[in-house]
Amino acid sequence: MNSPLRLGVNIDHVATIRNARGGDHPDPLRAAKAAAKAGADGITAHLREDRRHISDHDITRLSREIELPLNLEMAATDEMLEIALRHRPHAACLVPEKRQERTTEGGLDVLGGGDRLASVIGDLSQAGIRVSLFIEPDAAQLDAAVALGAPVVELHTGAYCDAPINARPAQLDRIVTAAAHAERIGLECHAGHGLTFDTVGPVAAIATIFELNIGHFLVGEAIFGGLESAIKRMRSLMDKARAETTGERSA
Ligand code: PXP
Repeated sequence: MNSPLRLGVNIDHVATIRNARGGDHPDPLRAAKAAAKAGADGITAHLREDRRHISDHDITRLSREIELPLNLEMAATDEMLEIALRHRPHAACLVPEKRQERTTEGGLDVLGGGDRLASVIGDLSQAGIRVSLFIEPDAAQLDAAVALGAPVVELHTGAYCDAPINARPAQLDRIVTAAAHAERIGLECHAGHGLTFDTVGPVAAIATIFELNIGHFLVGEAIFGGLESAIKRMRSLMDKARAETTGERSA
């Protein structure tokens, strides 16, 4: 099915489990192929500076062997830029990276990132790689993304997903408002981080969001029911939420 809302499956934590024992199992490439079979529209992998999960060899194999578009998450460093230009993935998502953080804890500071970000965005774009910036749902960050020439932003959904249930509506409002602003200023809007079966619906229902990137929860669910089954359920929750929005709009 061709859904207007794409699902990018992030396979980083398949590599986390593999690396716990230092061998080859479970193989992120096999997970990427299973994700394709289950209805993913793309594969996302974050090559971190400390290589805590995805390795350089994983990126080489994913670039050569998967048919789905690869979205490479990367810090805006010289090392990562060189790797991206060598592999030329379909897309690159620029993320902030701190060695001590457990995951990507906040969005990029696009306002403060100026010249460095502009130059990395320019180099990647020139190589035909679609660039997105992972940012907090904040109008000033969105405006700065446009000013730097980024065609796509990915809104950080972590604060929404981590909020206690009674505080979620306020966090969701930030995402809804930012997604509307993104459309107004000509940015393609994506979202991700921390999404689960329970939190995906309201984000998937936002008609101006075109892609969700989801990883940790799917890999966790795979322990209980298999990766393909977890992805199929996520896909169906996304499609249902989006169809309800579209239905409301055309009613
Ligand atoms: N999008 C970006 C930019 C990320 O850094 C991550 C985490 O690697 C995700 C989406 C996926 O987050 P999660 O693994 O919590 O689903």
